[in-house]
Amino acid sequence: MRLLFLGDVVGRSGRQAVLAELPRLRERYRLDFVAVNGENAAGGFGITEAILEELLGAGADVVTLGNHSWDQKEALVFIERYERLLRPINYPPGTPGRGSGVFKAANGAEVLVINAMGLVYMPEIGCPFRAVEHEVEACGLKRGADAIVVDFHAEVTSEKQAMGHFLDGRVSALIGTHTHVPTADERVLPNGSAYISDVGMCGDYQSVLGMEPAEPLNRFLTKIPRGRFEPALGPATLCGLAVEIDDASGLARHAASLRLGGALTPTEPRFWVE
Ligand SMILES: [Fe+2]
Ligand SMILES: [Fe+2]
Repeated sequence: MRLLFLGDVVGRSGRQAVLAELPRLRERYRLDFVAVNGENAAGGFGITEAILEELLGAGADVVTLGNHSWDQKEALVFIERYERLLRPINYPPGTPGRGSGVFKAANGAEVLVINAMGLVYMPEIGCPFRAVEHEVEACGLKRGADAIVVDFHAEVTSEKQAMGHFLDGRVSALIGTHTHVPTADERVLPNGSAYISDVGMCGDYQSVLGMEPAEPLNRFLTKIPRGRFEPALGPATLCGLAVEIDDASGLARHAASLRLGGALTPTEPRFWVE
């Protein structure tokens, strides 16, 4: 099974790249399942229903969120109508929406997707390790799901690596999001789970985390807000993790980064090209 996960879509630049490229990527690589983190899709802050519809229409099977889930207040309402929109599972009980779901891939596989948020330098919410384990125990590989994909939305690489080893052999892929900067450590862990500390954003990299540099720089220099953060509008680099999943075991055979367009050096998953 072929899985593609795309990192945080930032603003119009990121959206345009995903809408333009994802249909082509689905076809070119014969993708079975695509998940996209959409927490910054609306002007860098949250997601609207119209944008969610666009991402789903372009070929995302699932859209995940993070600490920006509720920046657009309408998300608190429309998330209840969209099974394919997930917010972190370890939010307090009673939070609108859901943090996991099982979805059918193009090859017929049942894919469990879980969105969780880290605790270090992040909002204080429930333990992500226990929350994810609860789901994986309830719907394990080959017991309830043919594949399991976890979007771990967290700041620090130590917490992400710890989660990777915690889940190794129990999920198909553990993919880090949130920092908007791709790490170069994608691999298959010893027990068969694909892993990357951060998949990077889909956005304009000639920026500060997808935002026009002037205001972030001003705040570092003066500590006085002078304006709003505005998404950078240059061409976006699409950043994703490509994972080849073994149909029999649900574990990963290969993992490689996919980067396309914009300022970063392009990369392509060779195991899907040869
Ligand atoms: Fe983000
Ligand atoms: Fe985030």
